[in-house]
Amino acid sequence: MTRPIISPTRPIVVLTGAGISQESGLDTFRCAGGVWSKVRLEDVATPEGFRRDPELVQEFYNARRRSLTEPHIQPNPAHHALARLEKEWPGGVLLVTQNIDDLHERAGSTQLVHMHGELLKVRCLRCDDIMPWARDVTMDTPCPQCRRAGGIRPHVVWFGEMPLEMDRIGDALDGCVLFVSIGTSGHVYPAAGFVAAVRQRGLAHTVELNLDPSDGASLFNEAQYGPASELVPEFVDELLTGL
Ligand code: APR
Repeated sequence: MTRPIISPTRPIVVLTGAGISQESGLDTFRCAGGVWSKVRLEDVATPEGFRRDPELVQEFYNARRRSLTEPHIQPNPAHHALARLEKEWPGGVLLVTQNIDDLHERAGSTQLVHMHGELLKVRCLRCDDIMPWARDVTMDTPCPQCRRAGGIRPHVVWFGEMPLEMDRIGDALDGCVLFVSIGTSGHVYPAAGFVAAVRQRGLAHTVELNLDPSDGASLFNEAQYGPASELVPEFVDELLTGL
């Protein structure tokens, strides 16, 4: 399908997944050698797993927090291109990420929703406080807010829990003129259902930029396959050149 004229006065919604951070050195979940090939998600990414063995879950996220804060893990050209799009697209851009890393922020994106939470934040189950956290956590770690131990958990949405800011995301999907899905397998809902929701309204052009066709590939008006660090800067250049 040829790309229709995209009105620059209208908003864009971008959805990203683990694939956009793969070239920055962070594992995806379902590619060969990915996170779920090394540990069972039922053990480390569900409330039941946390109840069964909280220290195993804390250590799983401690290891990922330590990796994320290593100096060689940096935003790649795809992250930077999306930050540029937010700065230069007159109609506004909402970046909805499934990722819990902070590479979009570090690239300069600000209109950003972490629908699956953030690795560099924790939540206290005793006082509900959410706080930035880059260090290891154990079940003995006291909450800086309420001083009680045993209640600190990763501020990450586990399977079976409700993703964050779904109302804001739904409103943005309803009003967008362009929906771009980048680096996601389209395997996990509700994110995997966003393209169908946008198509249902029939007012937006939908694009998939991915290494391989996702589960929802047939639902997109347009698709390009290859590494995000090449595809995304080119795509953003094309959008902004037309302004
Ligand atoms: N450039 C572009 N796409 C890539 C690249 C790359 N360099 N490397 C991998 N990909 C694509 C893969 O083809 C795959 O479709 O990224 C996608 C990664 O898919 P997943 O590993 O399933 O990651 P994601 O879609 O983000 O998973 C969604 O599942 O486990 C939960 O909460 C977790 O947020 C995660 C959610």
